[in-house]
Order: sequence, then C-alpha cells, then structure tokens
Amino acid sequence: MSILFYENTKTFHLCNQEISYIMTVLPNGHMGQLYFGKRVHQREDYSYLYETAPRPMASYVFEGDYSLSLEHVRQEYGVYGTTDFRRPAIEILQSNGSRLCDFQYQRHEIMKGKPSLSGLPATYTEKDEEAETLRVLLEDALTGVTVELLYTIFAKGGILARSAKITNKGADSVHLTAAMSLCMDLPDCNYEWLQFSGAWARERHLKVRKLEQGIQAVDSRRGHSSHEHNPFIVLKRPETCENQGEAIGFSLIYSGNFLAQAEVDTHDTTRVLMGIHPMGFDWKLDVRESFQTPEAVMVYSERGLNGMSQTFHRLYQKRLARGYWRDRARPILNNNWEATYFDFTEDRLVEIARKAKECGVELFVLDDGWFGERSSDHAGLGDWAANPKRLSGGITGFAERIEELGMKFGLWFEPEMVNKDSELYRKHPDWILSAPGRNVSHGRNQYVLDFSRTEVVDCIYGMMAKILREAKVSYIKWDMNRSITECYSAALPPERQGEVFHRYILGVYHLYERLNTEFPQVLFESCASGGGRFDPGILYYAPQGWASDDSDAVERLKIQYGTSFCYPISSIGSHVSVTPNHQVFRNTPLHTRANVAYFGTFGYELDLNKLEKEEQESVKEQIAFMKEYRQVLQFGTFYRLASPFEGNITCWMTVSENRTEAIVGWYRTLSHVNMPYMRVRLQGLDPEACYEDQETKKRYFGDELMNIGLVTSDATCGQMDGNTGECCDFDSRLYVFKAV
Ligand code: DGJ
Repeated sequence: MSILFYENTKTFHLCNQEISYIMTVLPNGHMGQLYFGKRVHQREDYSYLYETAPRPMASYVFEGDYSLSLEHVRQEYGVYGTTDFRRPAIEILQSNGSRLCDFQYQRHEIMKGKPSLSGLPATYTEKDEEAETLRVLLEDALTGVTVELLYTIFAKGGILARSAKITNKGADSVHLTAAMSLCMDLPDCNYEWLQFSGAWARERHLKVRKLEQGIQAVDSRRGHSSHEHNPFIVLKRPETCENQGEAIGFSLIYSGNFLAQAEVDTHDTTRVLMGIHPMGFDWKLDVRESFQTPEAVMVYSERGLNGMSQTFHRLYQKRLARGYWRDRARPILNNNWEATYFDFTEDRLVEIARKAKECGVELFVLDDGWFGERSSDHAGLGDWAANPKRLSGGITGFAERIEELGMKFGLWFEPEMVNKDSELYRKHPDWILSAPGRNVSHGRNQYVLDFSRTEVVDCIYGMMAKILREAKVSYIKWDMNRSITECYSAALPPERQGEVFHRYILGVYHLYERLNTEFPQVLFESCASGGGRFDPGILYYAPQGWASDDSDAVERLKIQYGTSFCYPISSIGSHVSVTPNHQVFRNTPLHTRANVAYFGTFGYELDLNKLEKEEQESVKEQIAFMKEYRQVLQFGTFYRLASPFEGNITCWMTVSENRTEAIVGWYRTLSHVNMPYMRVRLQGLDPEACYEDQETKKRYFGDELMNIGLVTSDATCGQMDGNTGECCDFDSRLYVFKAV
C-alpha cells in the first residue's frame, strides 16, 4: 500500500494490491478525480484522463479559454454554480447571501495509520502499517473557510475511507448547508444500482435497477438511519453477479439523516454523493470553529458482490466494531419480549429463565416493562429505576436470581425517549424536542428527549450507570422506537436549529461512548423497533443489532440476506420465536427457525416452557449445535449462493478461516410436487481437501462441491413431514462439512 504524490503533475496515486485511486489538482486549483478501480501501474502523468473539449452551452472558468468547464470535469468535492450544475458536495451560506465557493488546493500531508474522528464513529487501525492516510487542504480565499479531505487506504482489501473537515478561518460566521462525506465522480454510468429498503418488519430488502440519467437516491429524514432505507448502496456492472465482476459499495458510518445518491448527467458520467442529508441541515460555523463530517467507506471488488461483502464484513467486524466482544462468539440468549410482552411477574420470568438454563441458554434478557410505571406503552419511559411492584429486589436482586441459575443477565433500555406519564417528564417537560407554539406529535405514545443537550444525556447516563454499577448486568438492549418529529431544541438559538438532528446523534454516540468506556465488558445490542437504526455508526458502539421485529423464519430470509450485503453475520441479531409467528401468523418448522437464526447472533424469543417435550429436546440440540459451531457461523467467510429475492430456494454458507469447516444453510420456501433436479455450487472451499458431510458421512473433494455442486434434489417433495404430518412448506437443511 502506498500514497504517492507527483509534484510535477500534482497527481496523487493511492494504491494497494487491489485498487488504485488517482486524483490531480485541476488548472483552477480544485481537486479532480481521475480513476478509482482495479490497481493500475504508477505513472507521473495521467493527464489523458482529464478530458476537456469546448461544448456548446457550457460555461468556462477562465476568460478567453474554452477548456475548463467544471460541469465536464470529474471532481473530488464539487461545488455548485461556478460552471458546475450538478448537486454539490459542499454549500456555504455567507453573510452577504452568496453560496458560491472556490476551494483550491493548498498543501497535503501523508501519514501512517488513520486518525480518529472526534466524537464520531469511524474505522480504525491497530498498527500503523495497516493503512496510510492522505490529508488534502483546500481553501476558499474569500471566506477563509478551509476543507480538509481525508483519504485512508487500507493495506488489505479494496477499501478507501473518506471524510471532510470544514474549518472557518475567516473573519465572519458562515452557515454550512451541505457537507457531504464523499463525492465520487465516475466516468460512465454503465451500472446497476442496488439499495436496501423496506419498512418496519421488512428491513433491507434488495432492490436493483439500472442507473439512468437523472438523480436516483435513498435517504432518511427521520432522525435515524431508518427501516425505510439503509445508508448503503452498491453500483455494479450489469454482468456482475455474486462471484465475479466489478462492484463498488458505498457505506456511510452514520446513524442519523443521510443521503446516498447517484446523479447521472446527460454525458453519462455519474456523481455519487453520500453524507448527512442537506435537507434541514444548517450548521453555523463561527470563526475558528470546525465541522467534521461522518466517514464514508468505498469498497471496490472485482470478485463480485460476495467479494465486496466479505471486504465490508472483515472491515466492520475487525476495524469498526470494538472492545471485549468484537472477536468473541456471542452468548446464546433468551429474551422475554415475545414470551410475555408487558404481562410478567418476577416469578414468571424466573420460570422462563430456569427452563432456558436447562436447555443451555447462556444469557437471559429482560425486555421492556421493568421500570417506573411501565405496564403498557403509555407510561414510564425516562424513569430508569426498577418498579418494586414487579421486581421486589430491584434489578440488583433480579440479576442475582438469574446469575444464581447459572446464566448472565441482560436488560432493555430505551434511553432517548420519554412518556408524558413519567417522573422525568413531569420534572423536565422542556427536555423533549418540540417547536414553540406547535403541536408535538407522538409515536407509540412517546416523545423524543433532546439529546443535543448535555444535561439531558448526563441525566440518562446517571440513571443507566447507577444500575450497571449496582447490578450484575452483562448485556444491554438499547432500543429506539420512533422517528423524530418537531426537531427543535429549546436550548439552541434560532440560527442553530438546523444543527439539532446532527447534535442529537452526537449525543447518542456520546452516551454510548461513556457507557462503553465505563462498562467495557457489557455487550450492547442496538435496536430501533427492530432494524430502524441498523447502520455502521451504531456498530462502532454495539457489535450486534436486532435486525428486525419480524422473527418469522421465512421473512427473515430476505431480511438477513439483504443485511449481509454490508454487515457481518456476527452483527445480525436473530432469534427463534413461536408459531404461529406473532408478526405474520405463519407456522414454520422449528428446525427452519433455528437454521435461519444460526446465521446471526442466535437466541430464543419465547417461553421454552410452552414447547412440547420433544421440541424442548430439539432446542437443547440446537443450542449444543450453536455452541459448537458459532465461531465459524458468526466469524467465518460468508457467501450468498441463492437469493430469496429471485426464487423459491435460498442458500448461503460460511467457511472457517482455514477452510476446514463449512456450513451451508439451504431453505425452500414452498413445497412443490415432482420438483426438478437441484444442485448448488459451493464457494470458498479448499479444492484439494476432502470434506465429510457430518450427517450422511459422505465425502466429496472441495473442487467437486464447488464445480459440480452439492446435490440438493428432493425426492420427498410433495410428501408430508414425517414428524408433524404437516405439509413440508418452509423446509430447510443444514449441511456441515469438515475436512478429513
Ligand atoms: C421494539 C423492539 O424491537 C422489540 O424487540 C421490543 O424490545 C419492544 N420494542 C419493546 O417495547
């Protein structure tokens, strides 16, 4: 890996074994983009990539000159209105009303490793040799505002991390009304656009369409990254599939309002912008103040979508997630939410926990309803102390009862919210986000605390930390159950109201950081009504997240498949729940529910006492299986093999690092009679190794399984399930292979 600068041509070349990223200083001093893709030779002069020609209707920067029109030049951090008409990377409102700016190259610095971004989550290095970083300083001479563009290239993988820091070195305050993390101009538009969209209970469904002239975008304006769209998009070549071809993934390490868009102009070049959503964003930069954008990560792969995903998985698992749990197999848990909802007593919980322990569960999680006057979703949020009518010994006493059973104890919080029926709200009604003279909307009867205010975050921290100091709590589920409306802070002046959304997220990050620091061994699981804030920003603080409130195994195929495009399997919270399922009322076999949940953090969302004896025995086997194989399931190399978005069969697999173990999950949504013959070609095995199927004891060479395929034809199709006498819909199989 290296970052080279050629003084004569003012050209930068960032490269490692896989990629090259080349840019140059344009004749007007702006930074121009020349190339991003598979590694190419080093040379001093790539000026042939700077294509200029006079074009009718273009406007030109220099008088009497027809060569430089910014609209026709690929740039690193484009501005609007000085011959470029595309959406800009940055926009600054100045005291004279102008929004024009002219950021010219001043100097640069190349350093080993990667600096952290103050107050923000970001990828990191553990040793300096892991990455190199280039900082390019640009200045707008008239306002004195500077932009520092930060580029980190990692030694391994086609990864480039980018962000920008804007500083007001002038004499006047300015307003930053757009400051994107990434602006990437590509020379053509022969791509398909992949986005991961949905709604509550159907998060991150894959949508694919051809990139067309005009703007295509996904975004969130809800104050959290959202169920609707994920801050992650992919551009892939039309011929690219899972295992071959070019793809570029763009991921934003941020949990608030975001915009990810591709603008294809009518000359077929593509500008990708990614960052904080400019709508409503207005950051006042006083003299000598700085604004740091979140980080965006680009991954280039020529090994198809699986290659891209595997690079993201490794990066986010090892160099974004942090702390004690980063590399550890995750505890198998039993959460009481779908077992009891609000209707529980201490003894009932202990009964659930006792059975869980008997089956091998390691962690019991007490969900919503343990605090304040919380017996429904109308009251209690904000009062983070146990309700003594429900838990006589408080959290300390209850946690001890769970520990006495031989299990760890976990607890649910929703730190950012308050009910009007709570002590906290009665004491501090002005602590919620609300605009003067306006109605305040609710979501699930709750209101959003103003996390842009330090005293609010401090107060919540105080209540949470007290419990964590006093009681044996090993895990926290941090929930967030509504989007933000009336985003106005009583603590900020009018000209700073455009800062509230971002300051709110900084408050969330700050609280996470304080808790992570004081309680480093507590495992955090993020949640936002399921997967409403499943993004890389949160992964920095919580190495796993509840992927969706939809726990139905069939629905989960699409949700987990879509999630896997960017996020590592160790981050995907997935549990076995009861049938009929509480969201779709579907009956699926117990083995299928487990076969889906194994590819995630694994646990149970039910009362095991209510299962039949035989089912309880199966649960014991499932848990024993997960304990034996969770390392490879959660941390192996993951491959998508057959898509639930394309057909009746879903298939994926994971392979251990040394390729001696592989587990294949095969799922058939509907049963059919007299089905065609079927095979699935496996990936990632050692072609020379001989693998034994742990169930049938049949042996195959790796090259057979990868080239001929695993035979999955089903002679029993159309018959009834031998155990239940029911139809075989929603069937699944797990194949475990070990090298012999
Ligand atoms: C939404 C979460 O996604 C559920 O798992 C559960 O924790 C409820 N909130 C509790 O209110």
